Amino acid sequence: MTLQQKYTERIEKALAKYPDKRSAVMPVLHIAQEEYGWVSPEAIIEVAEICDMDPTQVKSIAGFYTMYSKHPKGKYWLQVCTDLPCALRGADQFYQELLDYLGVEDHGTTTDGLFTAEHVMCLAACDKAPMLQCNFHYQESLNMEKMKSLIEEWRAEAQKK
Ligand code: FES
Repeated sequence: MTLQQKYTERIEKALAKYPDKRSAVMPVLHIAQEEYGWVSPEAIIEVAEICDMDPTQVKSIAGFYTMYSKHPKGKYWLQVCTDLPCALRGADQFYQELLDYLGVEDHGTTTDGLFTAEHVMCLAACDKAPMLQCNFHYQESLNMEKMKSLIEEWRAEAQKK
């Protein structure tokens, strides 16, 4: 089933908000990511067809924004800000410690498929560094002790589902 078939109502609603189909590309990309877990090459083609655009244009838009994942990801998508203001508050070291704790490389996913970690540019919470967003929810003023308990919480949550 295509995105268009599965999400007809949501897609029509997104398209109806704009005079031009192309303007709905971001909400439609969100729907694609929700469906596939990431913005895959196939998803790019589907979104391009829906929004009447060239796939390369859709790909460049998806590539620009950190809110769209360009790789398959785990259930918990950890995006750590390592931009300059956060770096000045220890974000690089925090991110490396997180990668070591999870046993993954940058952009890597744990073998149980639960966590994907990557570093991103400013998330507009510079005064609360180190910080990250997990599935778009902010976790601020972090240290590894706090991070480890969050990871255990999320692991326990995942086991319940
Ligand atoms: S630099 Fe990290 S949130 Fe702004």
